[in-house]
Amino acid sequence: MDLVFRPRRLRRTEAIRRMVRETHLRPEDFIYPMFAVPGSRLRQPIEAMPGISRLSPDLLAEEARVVWDLGVPAVLLFGLPARKDDTASEAASPKGPVQQAVRALKKALPDLVVITDVCLCGYTSHGHCGLLGGREIDNDATLEVLAEVALSHAEAGADMVAPSDMMDGRVGAIREALDERGFEMVAILSYAVKYASSFYGPFREAAESAPQFGDRRGYQMDPANAREALREAALDVEEGADILMVKPALPYLDIIASLAGEFDQPIAAYQVSGEYAMIKAAAARGWLDETAAMLESLTAIKRAGADLILTYFAQDAARTLSGG
Ligand code: PBG
Repeated sequence: MDLVFRPRRLRRTEAIRRMVRETHLRPEDFIYPMFAVPGSRLRQPIEAMPGISRLSPDLLAEEARVVWDLGVPAVLLFGLPARKDDTASEAASPKGPVQQAVRALKKALPDLVVITDVCLCGYTSHGHCGLLGGREIDNDATLEVLAEVALSHAEAGADMVAPSDMMDGRVGAIREALDERGFEMVAILSYAVKYASSFYGPFREAAESAPQFGDRRGYQMDPANAREALREAALDVEEGADILMVKPALPYLDIIASLAGEFDQPIAAYQVSGEYAMIKAAAARGWLDETAAMLESLTAIKRAGADLILTYFAQDAARTLSGG
């Protein structure tokens, strides 16, 4: 056979494969999501997310140190308040678990990039991401509360806020509120393209944030839509988003690739709780090699065009990459 081109020549040895590898994962690519609860010395493992726990601010700071020491530059904080009500009144409290965790983190690790999730679903008794007017979400009334929540995070010392509620106009409302109060250097990592996904199931157990009636399809995107993603992202850019996120990640690689081609903002992708749980569950039964599946899925997300990956595997992946 006189084949002119034999692709296998460049796959022959590991050293050659390393030379021509196009995508490299680094600890700097990862953002580690963490769950803050009020109290001290509290660690509450989340059953559907093996290896992940809800932590009180003191333990959260200890764990963040491990993450930081592995080279991961950033964490994303979610909070579970002591009390939920109709109007999410605890969400902007300076004494809330997220605000306390931000302060604890900034004290222990001043250089760690602290990002906070801005949403109401963990704080409302009905579990929706916005305030209700009857059985409907009141979009514009919700914007005011979201802006207050973002401000309370900035006041606690957050470097970036990450609105995940999918209300229209929230990036602009948050940018304006931050600028008015002198927080023009606090960045917005927007959940620009967030689909109404079944892969958030384990997270809703973790955050006790499942909607008590209906679903989120009136505000999160239809998984069938791709062009709409570009429109959503363009709106967030106009309103002042610094980083654009696609969520979930692996089932939406086409969306990550099209955003990366279309926008010059950094692109983030969120490998969500269900994506994590699937790999963990299959590995626990011996059906998948956990480390290999973890690295392959993260590499695929980066190859598609994500500059940053929010992942519950951040610790394990960074440890594996550093040979540990
Ligand atoms: C809050 C929020 C959710 C997630 C991140 N922020 C849940 C939801 O929208 O229902 C999901 C994260 C994950 O599944 O890991 N709106």
